[in-house]
Amino acid sequence: MVGLIKLVTKYINKNYKILDNKFSIFLNKRIFEPNLTTILLIDAARKIIKKNDKVLDLGCGSGVIGCYLYKNKIIKYIYGSDISKAAVNCSIYNSKKLTKNYDIRLSNSLNSWKNERFNLIINDISGISAKINSISKWFKFAPNQSGNDGTKFTINILKDFKNKKFKNARLIFPVLGLSNREKIIKFLKKNKINFKILSKKEWPLPKDLVKHQGILKKLKSEKKINYHEKFSILFTTTEIFYLNNE
Ligand SMILES: C[S@@+](CC[C@H](N)C(=O)[O-])C[C@H]1O[C@@H](n2cnc3c(N)ncnc32)[C@H](O)[C@@H]1O
Repeated sequence: MVGLIKLVTKYINKNYKILDNKFSIFLNKRIFEPNLTTILLIDAARKIIKKNDKVLDLGCGSGVIGCYLYKNKIIKYIYGSDISKAAVNCSIYNSKKLTKNYDIRLSNSLNSWKNERFNLIINDISGISAKINSISKWFKFAPNQSGNDGTKFTINILKDFKNKKFKNARLIFPVLGLSNREKIIKFLKKNKINFKILSKKEWPLPKDLVKHQGILKKLKSEKKINYHEKFSILFTTTEIFYLNNE
């Protein structure tokens, strides 16, 4: 990962999360807290965004990705949406502090963007097993209806991609080990969709998950998630996938 953003899990006060020493984002406890996936997506996006690209931050949560890209002059307009009202309000608050150039919508997946065309969609809609969701702290308030193998929204977006709803567009999205990665790869191959993996990061499962060994083992044996053990620590991965319909 490029060392451009350090995730400092420190708060100036309880409402602000610092992503690097020049950028912080307003959060409250109802909003998904930016994490490693956020950083990998930002890193990947800044490498592939072209001048004047119209970029959509889908599943924007606090608006962190769009705001970061805008603040760093990588995009000129912030488009974002989320299914959660709290997230949309928070994204609007964060965007307003930076610019008047924003359009943030309440939207289930791409539903509110039917008349818009984007050059790049950054899809960060919840993509981990819903069972993992129920035993982790990550989605305490943020919705996650992505099914027990975590692939529902990713596959839906891939279907849209395949059906050319994304004419001349590119797509990046994270694939976590805490979802059925093989099912996503199988879908891509079956539908002859070319893809690249732009980055991959291994990370240790947090303690609140590791204590549910029984559930983890069962989900792994059902191939709904994947993780591996190294030095008695359980690790999983996040990869950033890239599709190009241009
Ligand atoms: C993993 S969080 C990512 C938030 C943000 N991009 C970040 O990096 O902090 C996933 C977001 O997807 C949203 N979400 C879940 N289901 C959705 C859906 N069907 N349509 C749109 N957004 C959805 C959640 O509310 C949550 O804010």
